[in-house]
Amino acid sequence: MTNTTRTPFSKQLQSKIDLLSKRTTKIQMGDVSFDSPLLLAPMSAICIAPFRLLMEELGAGGTVSELISCHGINYGNEKTHQMLRIDPREKNIGIQLFGEDPEAMARASEVAQERNPKFIDINMGCPVRKVVSKGGGSALMKDPKKLGAYFGAMKKAINIPLTVKIRTGWDEESINAQEVIHIAKEEGLEFVAVHGRTRTQQYKGRANWELLENLATTSPLPLIGNGDLHTHKQVQERLSKTTCQALMLGRGPLRNPFIFLESYIQEGEDLSFSSRDYFEIIQRLYHYISEYTERERTQLVQMRKHIVWMAQGFPGVAQFRGQIFTTPDLGDTMKVTEDFFMGLEGKDKNINHDEAFMTSGHG
Ligand SMILES: Cc1cc2nc3c(=O)[nH]c(=O)nc-3n(C[C@H](O)[C@H](O)[C@H](O)COP(=O)(O)O)c2cc1C
Repeated sequence: MTNTTRTPFSKQLQSKIDLLSKRTTKIQMGDVSFDSPLLLAPMSAICIAPFRLLMEELGAGGTVSELISCHGINYGNEKTHQMLRIDPREKNIGIQLFGEDPEAMARASEVAQERNPKFIDINMGCPVRKVVSKGGGSALMKDPKKLGAYFGAMKKAINIPLTVKIRTGWDEESINAQEVIHIAKEEGLEFVAVHGRTRTQQYKGRANWELLENLATTSPLPLIGNGDLHTHKQVQERLSKTTCQALMLGRGPLRNPFIFLESYIQEGEDLSFSSRDYFEIIQRLYHYISEYTERERTQLVQMRKHIVWMAQGFPGVAQFRGQIFTTPDLGDTMKVTEDFFMGLEGKDKNINHDEAFMTSGHG
Protein backbone atom coordinates (compact mmCIF):
# COMPACT_ATOMS: atom_id res chain seq x y z
CA MET A 1 0.00 0.00 0.00
CA THR A 2 1.38 3.41 -0.87
CA ASN A 3 0.36 6.53 0.94
CA THR A 4 0.50 9.23 -1.70
CA THR A 5 -1.42 12.09 -0.14
CA ARG A 6 0.40 14.64 1.96
CA THR A 7 -2.14 15.48 4.65
CA PRO A 8 -1.56 18.97 6.04
CA PHE A 9 -0.76 19.15 9.73
CA SER A 10 -3.69 20.09 11.98
CA LYS A 11 -4.04 23.80 12.78
CA GLN A 12 -2.96 23.17 16.38
CA LEU A 13 0.28 21.46 15.38
CA GLN A 14 1.07 23.81 12.51
CA SER A 15 0.64 26.87 14.72
CA LYS A 16 3.11 25.47 17.29
CA ILE A 17 5.60 24.72 14.52
CA ASP A 18 5.19 28.21 13.06
CA LEU A 19 5.54 29.96 16.43
CA LEU A 20 8.68 28.09 17.49
CA SER A 21 10.35 28.08 14.06
CA LYS A 22 10.16 31.88 14.02
CA ARG A 23 12.42 32.01 17.08
CA THR A 24 15.34 30.25 15.42
CA THR A 25 18.24 32.29 14.12
CA LYS A 26 20.20 31.66 10.96
CA ILE A 27 23.90 30.99 11.37
CA GLN A 28 26.88 31.23 9.05
CA MET A 29 29.83 28.88 9.42
CA GLY A 30 32.49 29.71 6.88
CA ASP A 31 30.70 29.53 3.53
CA VAL A 32 27.85 27.38 4.87
CA SER A 33 24.65 28.86 6.26
CA PHE A 34 22.09 27.00 8.37
CA ASP A 35 18.57 27.96 9.44
CA SER A 36 19.40 27.51 13.12
CA PRO A 37 22.37 26.45 15.28
CA LEU A 38 20.68 23.10 16.08
CA LEU A 39 21.56 20.48 13.50
CA LEU A 40 20.64 16.85 12.93
CA ALA A 41 23.69 14.55 13.27
CA PRO A 42 24.47 12.02 10.53
CA MET A 43 23.18 8.53 11.37
CA SER A 44 23.57 5.49 9.17
CA ALA A 45 20.39 3.88 7.86
CA ILE A 46 18.41 6.69 9.49
CA CYS A 47 19.41 10.00 7.89
CA ILE A 48 17.91 9.28 4.49
CA ALA A 49 15.95 11.99 2.67
CA PRO A 50 12.51 11.32 4.28
CA PHE A 51 13.74 11.64 7.86
CA ARG A 52 16.03 14.58 7.05
CA LEU A 53 13.16 16.38 5.37
CA LEU A 54 10.87 15.82 8.35
CA MET A 55 13.55 17.08 10.73
CA GLU A 56 14.06 20.26 8.69
CA GLU A 57 10.32 20.79 8.83
CA LEU A 58 10.47 20.33 12.60
CA GLY A 59 13.17 22.91 13.17
CA ALA A 60 16.54 21.27 12.44
CA GLY A 61 18.74 24.03 11.04
CA GLY A 62 20.53 21.57 8.78
CA THR A 63 21.14 17.87 8.28
CA VAL A 64 23.86 15.49 7.12
CA SER A 65 23.37 12.23 5.22
CA GLU A 66 24.35 8.86 6.60
CA LEU A 67 27.98 7.88 5.97
CA ILE A 68 28.47 6.74 2.36
CA SER A 69 31.39 4.65 1.13
CA CYS A 70 33.68 6.38 -1.37
CA HIS A 71 34.55 2.99 -2.85
CA GLY A 72 30.88 2.10 -3.29
CA ILE A 73 30.43 5.35 -5.21
CA ASN A 74 33.52 4.83 -7.35
CA TYR A 75 32.61 1.21 -8.19
CA GLY A 76 29.18 2.40 -9.31
CA ASN A 77 27.40 0.32 -6.68
CA GLU A 78 23.68 0.95 -7.17
CA LYS A 79 22.75 0.80 -3.49
CA THR A 80 25.48 3.30 -2.62
CA HIS A 81 24.35 5.68 -5.35
CA GLN A 82 20.79 5.47 -3.94
CA MET A 83 22.20 6.72 -0.65
CA LEU A 84 23.33 9.93 -2.37
CA ARG A 85 19.74 10.91 -3.14
CA ILE A 86 18.63 14.34 -1.98
CA ASP A 87 15.01 15.48 -2.02
CA PRO A 88 14.61 18.80 -3.88
CA ARG A 89 12.69 20.13 -0.84
CA GLU A 90 15.73 19.68 1.43
CA LYS A 91 17.39 23.04 2.03
CA ASN A 92 20.45 22.57 4.22
CA ILE A 93 21.93 19.19 3.51
CA GLY A 94 25.48 17.89 3.52
CA ILE A 95 26.58 14.52 2.13
CA GLN A 96 28.95 12.55 4.34
CA LEU A 97 31.58 10.27 2.80
CA PHE A 98 33.98 7.82 4.37
CA GLY A 99 37.12 6.09 3.17
CA GLU A 100 40.83 5.87 3.84
CA ASP A 101 42.22 6.77 0.43
CA PRO A 102 42.57 10.45 -0.56
CA GLU A 103 42.24 9.88 -4.32
CA ALA A 104 39.19 7.65 -3.94
CA MET A 105 37.62 10.21 -1.60
CA ALA A 106 38.39 12.99 -4.09
CA ARG A 107 36.73 11.10 -6.96
CA ALA A 108 33.70 10.22 -4.85
CA SER A 109 33.37 13.85 -3.73
CA GLU A 110 33.10 14.97 -7.34
CA VAL A 111 30.25 12.50 -7.87
CA ALA A 112 28.51 13.49 -4.63
CA GLN A 113 28.81 17.16 -5.55
CA GLU A 114 26.64 16.56 -8.62
CA ARG A 115 23.71 15.87 -6.29
CA ASN A 116 23.83 19.52 -5.17
CA PRO A 117 24.41 19.22 -1.44
CA LYS A 118 25.45 22.39 0.42
CA PHE A 119 28.68 20.73 1.52
CA ILE A 120 30.61 17.48 1.56
CA ASP A 121 31.42 16.14 5.02
CA ILE A 122 34.15 13.64 5.89
CA ASN A 123 33.49 10.91 8.44
CA MET A 124 36.47 10.77 10.79
CA GLY A 125 34.54 9.56 13.81
CA CYS A 126 33.27 6.12 12.92
CA PRO A 127 34.51 3.64 15.56
CA VAL A 128 33.19 0.48 13.86
CA ARG A 129 35.85 -2.21 13.34
CA LYS A 130 34.93 -2.89 9.71
CA VAL A 131 35.61 0.78 8.88
CA VAL A 132 38.64 1.49 11.10
CA SER A 133 40.43 -1.76 10.18
CA LYS A 134 40.71 -0.41 6.62
CA GLY A 135 42.00 2.95 7.89
CA GLY A 136 38.75 4.94 7.51
CA GLY A 137 36.52 6.73 10.05
CA SER A 138 38.19 7.51 13.37
CA ALA A 139 41.36 5.58 12.36
CA LEU A 140 42.27 8.64 10.26
CA MET A 141 42.82 10.55 13.49
CA LYS A 142 45.67 8.21 14.43
CA ASP A 143 47.98 9.57 11.78
CA PRO A 144 47.46 13.35 11.49
CA LYS A 145 50.60 13.73 9.31
CA LYS A 146 48.65 12.23 6.42
CA LEU A 147 45.67 14.51 6.84
CA GLY A 148 47.02 17.54 4.96
CA ALA A 149 47.23 15.55 1.72
CA TYR A 150 43.96 13.75 2.44
CA PHE A 151 41.96 16.97 2.94
CA GLY A 152 43.87 18.72 0.15
CA ALA A 153 42.99 16.09 -2.47
CA MET A 154 39.29 16.36 -1.70
CA LYS A 155 39.32 20.12 -1.50
CA LYS A 156 40.87 20.31 -4.99
CA ALA A 157 38.22 18.00 -6.44
CA ILE A 158 35.16 20.06 -5.50
CA ASN A 159 33.97 23.64 -5.57
CA ILE A 160 31.49 23.41 -2.69
CA PRO A 161 32.51 23.60 0.99
CA LEU A 162 34.30 20.67 2.62
CA THR A 163 33.75 19.86 6.31
CA VAL A 164 34.71 17.12 8.74
CA LYS A 165 33.18 15.28 11.71
CA ILE A 166 35.68 13.87 14.20
CA ARG A 167 35.95 12.42 17.68
CA THR A 168 38.15 13.94 20.39
CA GLY A 169 40.93 11.46 19.57
CA TRP A 170 41.65 7.76 19.23
CA ASP A 171 41.93 7.13 22.96
CA GLU A 172 42.45 8.98 26.24
CA GLU A 173 46.24 9.01 25.67
CA SER A 174 45.99 10.53 22.22
CA ILE A 175 43.43 13.34 22.37
CA ASN A 176 44.38 15.29 19.24
CA ALA A 177 41.21 17.02 18.03
CA GLN A 178 42.93 20.39 18.25
CA GLU A 179 45.78 19.31 15.96
CA VAL A 180 43.31 17.85 13.45
CA ILE A 181 41.24 21.05 13.48
CA HIS A 182 44.35 23.15 12.73
CA ILE A 183 45.21 20.93 9.76
CA ALA A 184 41.62 21.19 8.54
CA LYS A 185 41.82 24.97 8.78
CA GLU A 186 45.08 25.07 6.80
CA GLU A 187 43.52 22.98 4.04
CA GLY A 188 40.54 25.32 3.76
CA LEU A 189 37.79 23.27 5.38
CA GLU A 190 34.72 25.22 6.48
CA PHE A 191 33.85 23.82 9.91
CA VAL A 192 34.35 20.85 12.15
CA ALA A 193 31.83 18.82 14.15
CA VAL A 194 33.21 17.03 17.21
CA HIS A 195 31.56 14.10 19.00
CA GLY A 196 32.93 14.51 22.52
CA ARG A 197 34.20 10.95 22.94
CA THR A 198 37.31 9.07 21.90
CA ARG A 199 37.15 6.11 19.53
CA THR A 200 38.01 3.73 22.37
CA GLN A 201 35.05 4.99 24.36
CA GLN A 202 32.70 4.05 21.52
CA TYR A 203 29.42 5.17 23.17
CA LYS A 204 30.41 4.52 26.79
CA GLY A 205 30.68 7.16 29.50
CA ARG A 206 29.59 10.69 28.74
CA ALA A 207 30.53 13.14 26.01
CA ASN A 208 33.28 15.40 27.35
CA TRP A 209 31.68 18.84 27.10
CA GLU A 210 34.44 20.52 29.08
CA LEU A 211 36.86 19.49 26.36
CA LEU A 212 34.41 20.49 23.60
CA GLU A 213 33.99 23.96 25.10
CA ASN A 214 37.76 24.38 25.44
CA LEU A 215 38.25 23.31 21.84
CA ALA A 216 35.57 25.73 20.65
CA THR A 217 37.18 28.65 22.49
CA THR A 218 40.50 28.25 20.70
CA SER A 219 39.37 26.62 17.44
CA PRO A 220 40.45 28.41 14.26
CA LEU A 221 37.37 26.90 12.56
CA PRO A 222 33.69 27.19 13.54
CA LEU A 223 33.01 24.22 15.80
CA ILE A 224 29.86 22.13 16.24
CA GLY A 225 29.60 20.35 19.59
CA ASN A 226 27.96 16.93 19.70
CA GLY A 227 27.12 14.26 22.22
CA ASP A 228 24.43 13.32 24.73
CA LEU A 229 22.03 16.20 24.21
CA HIS A 230 18.97 14.04 24.72
CA THR A 231 16.36 16.51 26.01
CA HIS A 232 15.33 20.02 25.07
CA LYS A 233 16.27 21.16 28.59
CA GLN A 234 19.82 19.89 28.03
CA VAL A 235 19.91 21.68 24.66
CA GLN A 236 18.61 24.94 26.14
CA GLU A 237 21.13 24.82 28.96
CA ARG A 238 24.02 24.13 26.60
CA LEU A 239 22.86 26.73 24.09
CA SER A 240 22.74 29.39 26.81
CA LYS A 241 26.42 29.01 27.73
CA THR A 242 28.22 27.31 24.87
CA THR A 243 31.14 28.69 22.92
CA CYS A 244 30.35 26.28 20.06
CA GLN A 245 28.83 27.91 16.97
CA ALA A 246 26.29 25.11 16.67
CA LEU A 247 25.11 21.92 18.36
CA MET A 248 24.42 18.62 16.66
CA LEU A 249 21.80 16.15 17.91
CA GLY A 250 21.69 12.49 16.91
CA ARG A 251 19.79 10.10 19.14
CA GLY A 252 17.70 12.78 20.89
CA PRO A 253 15.48 13.52 17.86
CA LEU A 254 14.78 9.81 17.32
CA ARG A 255 12.79 9.54 20.53
CA ASN A 256 11.70 13.17 20.50
CA PRO A 257 11.48 14.57 16.97
CA PHE A 258 10.13 17.82 18.46
CA ILE A 259 13.38 18.45 20.35
CA PHE A 260 14.58 21.13 17.90
CA LEU A 261 11.35 23.14 18.28
CA GLU A 262 11.03 22.52 22.02
CA SER A 263 14.46 24.04 22.50
CA TYR A 264 12.85 27.39 21.65
CA ILE A 265 10.04 27.15 24.23
CA GLN A 266 10.45 30.02 26.66
CA GLU A 267 10.51 29.84 30.46
CA GLY A 268 6.99 29.57 31.87
CA GLU A 269 5.37 29.09 28.46
CA ASP A 270 2.59 26.47 28.41
CA LEU A 271 3.43 24.68 25.21
CA SER A 272 4.00 21.00 24.58
CA PHE A 273 3.60 18.37 21.90
CA SER A 274 0.93 15.72 22.39
CA SER A 275 0.65 12.07 21.39
CA ARG A 276 -1.71 13.28 18.62
CA ASP A 277 1.12 15.51 17.31
CA TYR A 278 3.40 12.46 17.30
CA PHE A 279 0.91 10.54 15.19
CA GLU A 280 0.64 13.42 12.74
CA ILE A 281 4.35 13.47 12.11
CA ILE A 282 4.46 9.68 11.82
CA GLN A 283 1.89 10.07 9.03
CA ARG A 284 4.05 12.75 7.38
CA LEU A 285 7.10 10.48 7.59
CA TYR A 286 5.07 7.64 6.07
CA HIS A 287 4.20 9.93 3.19
CA TYR A 288 7.84 10.89 2.60
CA ILE A 289 8.98 7.27 2.81
CA SER A 290 6.30 6.21 0.32
CA GLU A 291 7.56 8.87 -2.07
CA TYR A 292 11.17 7.81 -1.49
CA THR A 293 10.76 4.11 -2.27
CA GLU A 294 8.11 1.82 -3.67
CA ARG A 295 9.69 -1.17 -1.92
CA GLU A 296 7.18 -2.11 0.76
CA ARG A 297 9.78 -3.98 2.77
CA THR A 298 12.00 -0.88 3.03
CA GLN A 299 8.99 1.26 3.90
CA LEU A 300 8.01 -1.17 6.65
CA VAL A 301 11.52 -1.46 8.10
CA GLN A 302 11.96 2.32 8.17
CA MET A 303 8.51 3.04 9.60
CA ARG A 304 8.68 0.36 12.28
CA LYS A 305 11.87 1.66 13.81
CA HIS A 306 10.77 5.31 13.84
CA ILE A 307 7.34 4.45 15.27
CA VAL A 308 8.90 2.44 18.09
CA TRP A 309 11.49 5.13 18.89
CA MET A 310 8.82 7.84 18.91
CA ALA A 311 6.60 5.74 21.17
CA GLN A 312 9.33 5.34 23.79
CA GLY A 313 8.39 6.78 27.14
CA PHE A 314 4.63 6.64 26.58
CA PRO A 315 2.65 4.28 28.84
CA GLY A 316 2.11 0.80 27.35
CA VAL A 317 5.05 1.04 24.97
CA ALA A 318 6.37 -2.48 25.65
CA GLN A 319 3.15 -4.13 24.50
CA PHE A 320 2.85 -1.73 21.57
CA ARG A 321 6.39 -2.56 20.43
CA GLY A 322 5.46 -6.25 20.42
CA GLN A 323 2.42 -5.49 18.28
CA ILE A 324 4.43 -3.43 15.79
CA PHE A 325 7.03 -6.13 15.24
CA THR A 326 4.40 -8.81 14.68
CA THR A 327 2.31 -6.80 12.21
CA PRO A 328 3.60 -7.67 8.73
CA ASP A 329 1.50 -5.22 6.72
CA LEU A 330 2.28 -1.50 6.61
CA GLY A 331 -1.36 -0.39 6.39
CA ASP A 332 -2.15 -2.47 9.49
CA THR A 333 0.97 -1.09 11.20
CA MET A 334 -0.32 2.44 10.67
CA LYS A 335 -3.72 1.47 12.05
CA VAL A 336 -2.17 -0.08 15.19
CA THR A 337 -0.02 3.05 15.53
CA GLU A 338 -3.01 5.34 15.20
CA ASP A 339 -4.90 3.41 17.88
CA PHE A 340 -1.90 3.58 20.22
CA PHE A 341 -1.06 7.28 19.86
CA MET A 342 -4.67 8.51 19.67
CA GLY A 343 -5.52 6.47 22.75
CA LEU A 344 -2.86 8.32 24.77
CA GLU A 345 -4.75 11.63 24.94
CA GLY A 346 -3.45 13.61 27.92
CA LYS A 347 -0.74 11.08 28.82
CA ASP A 348 2.83 12.31 29.19
CA LYS A 349 5.99 10.88 27.74
CA ASN A 350 8.60 9.87 30.29
CA ILE A 351 11.97 8.56 29.10
CA ASN A 352 14.64 7.25 31.44
CA HIS A 353 17.74 8.91 30.02
CA ASP A 354 20.08 6.95 32.29
CA GLU A 355 19.34 3.79 30.32
CA ALA A 356 21.63 3.17 27.34
CA PHE A 357 20.05 3.91 23.96
CA MET A 358 21.55 3.14 20.53
CA THR A 359 25.18 2.55 21.41
CA SER A 360 26.59 1.26 18.16
CA GLY A 361 26.64 4.21 15.78
CA HIS A 362 29.04 5.11 12.98
CA GLY A 363 30.55 8.28 14.38
C1 LIG B 1 22.59 4.62 14.91
C2 LIG B 1 23.68 5.64 14.76
C3 LIG B 1 24.27 5.80 13.53
C4 LIG B 1 25.28 6.76 13.37
N1 LIG B 1 25.82 6.94 12.13
C5 LIG B 1 26.74 7.93 11.93
C6 LIG B 1 27.22 8.25 10.64
O1 LIG B 1 26.80 7.65 9.64
N2 LIG B 1 28.16 9.22 10.53
C7 LIG B 1 28.62 9.92 11.62
O2 LIG B 1 29.47 10.80 11.48
N3 LIG B 1 28.16 9.65 12.85
C8 LIG B 1 27.22 8.70 13.03
N4 LIG B 1 26.72 8.48 14.28
C9 LIG B 1 27.16 9.31 15.40
C10 LIG B 1 26.23 10.51 15.61
O3 LIG B 1 26.27 11.37 14.52
C11 LIG B 1 26.63 11.27 16.89
O4 LIG B 1 27.94 11.71 16.75
C12 LIG B 1 26.54 10.40 18.15
O5 LIG B 1 25.37 9.62 18.16
C13 LIG B 1 26.57 11.27 19.41
O6 LIG B 1 25.53 12.21 19.39
P1 LIG B 1 24.15 11.98 20.21
O7 LIG B 1 24.52 11.71 21.62
O8 LIG B 1 23.39 13.27 20.02
O9 LIG B 1 23.47 10.82 19.59
C14 LIG B 1 25.72 7.53 14.47
C15 LIG B 1 25.12 7.33 15.71
C16 LIG B 1 24.10 6.42 15.87
C17 LIG B 1 23.48 6.25 17.22
